[in-house]
Amino acid sequence: MRFFLLLSLSLCASLARSKLLVNYTGGQPATVLGVVELEGQDLGDRLSILDAGDEAYIQPVLDDKTNMSALRFHRDSHYRRAEVRSLYGDVEANKTYYIGYTLRVPKMRDHLVIFQWKKQDKLAAPRQNIPFHLFFSGPDQLSLEYTTPGSNGSNRTTYWTGNFSTGHDASFIHTIGMAINTCLDGRGSLELFLDGKPAVRLDGAQLFTGATYPKFGIYRAEADAEKDVDADEYAVDSFVYRVQISDGGWADVAEAAGLSDDVVALLEATEPRSASKWSTTL
Ligand SMILES: *[C@@H]1O[C@H](CO)[C@@H](O)[C@H](O)[C@H]1NC(C)=O
Ligand SMILES: *[C@@H]1O[C@H](CO)[C@@H](O)[C@H](O)[C@H]1NC(C)=O
Ligand SMILES: *[C@@H]1O[C@H](CO)[C@@H](O)[C@H](O)[C@H]1NC(C)=O
Ligand SMILES: *[C@@H]1O[C@H](CO)[C@@H](O)[C@H](O)[C@H]1NC(C)=O
Ligand SMILES: *[C@@H]1O[C@H](CO)[C@@H](O)[C@H](O)[C@H]1NC(C)=O
Ligand SMILES: *[C@@H]1O[C@H](CO)[C@@H](O)[C@H](O)[C@H]1NC(C)=O
Repeated sequence: MRFFLLLSLSLCASLARSKLLVNYTGGQPATVLGVVELEGQDLGDRLSILDAGDEAYIQPVLDDKTNMSALRFHRDSHYRRAEVRSLYGDVEANKTYYIGYTLRVPKMRDHLVIFQWKKQDKLAAPRQNIPFHLFFSGPDQLSLEYTTPGSNGSNRTTYWTGNFSTGHDASFIHTIGMAINTCLDGRGSLELFLDGKPAVRLDGAQLFTGATYPKFGIYRAEADAEKDVDADEYAVDSFVYRVQISDGGWADVAEAAGLSDDVVALLEATEPRSASKWSTTL
């Protein structure tokens, strides 16, 4: 627990009134989580749920590998994305958003993205297409990459890599917790927890240089255009059991983030935090 014995630092987050903004439970329609986005091979090739049929979909299912209700994200070889955008247009500056995300990925592919903190107006200065994202960087290795604002908007640096097992039963369910501070003036911060344990903290981050929001699902790592591939190898899925988002505190999202009461109590007692072993100042 000495991870949490940290120094105090004043941040610009406004005083929180607890509010659960998203409370998705597996089995509910995707619209409870947000706006569905399915896309074909080419960027901008947006599909309606009906167009994509069985080849790309986001549907509530009973996951027969765990007997749990889930939201199943599925994509065949030549589809770019199956994602849901949450809080689109609703994220504000100078706040902290707490996110809990419980999921199972049956099979990974290199570069497969499972979460994006995405800037919609990606050409607005300073450019920062995807302020940060979580993706598979190697066999069952998940990485967090942050994009330094400016230049072409895709100047990405990896700040953390950890184990994220993939497979076909309940032992492959993982919990992700994130606290995203949208402070302006380069004083934002990002905390990541995996399976209830601290993974990384970034200070001095810029996470709100434009219209930004969280995106859940599967993106990238599709087959190249016109390339004949083994369909089973390239098809990807994820099963999402729980998503919670709050602008109040960790306690609101503890269930989906997989944080015990003890950890939440410690986090709240030491808020705001900085300068720990697992932190990096940008
Ligand atoms: C969130 O969802 C769970 C499960 O569906 C439900 O039990 C709980 O009451 C909801 N919480 C709020 C604050 O709506
Ligand atoms: C799911 O539930 C069914 C019916 O109770 C049972 O036969 C099956 O073994 C269960 N599967 C798992 C993975 O628990
Ligand atoms: C956010 O905070 C910065 C600096 O603390 C301040 O200049 C700015 O006006 C604030 N913006 C909003 C939208 O609250
Ligand atoms: C890219 O980001 C790194 C890390 O912040 C920085 O050192 C470098 O100058 C940036 N490169 C460009 C082209 O902006
Ligand atoms: C953008 O710049 C980065 C270096 O900052 C470079 O690695 C990347 O290839 C560039 N991307 C494009 C699309 O030009
Ligand atoms: C990741 O998994 C490998 C192989 O199972 C193990 O040796 C290593 O300690 C794990 N790393 C972490 C940070 O848990």
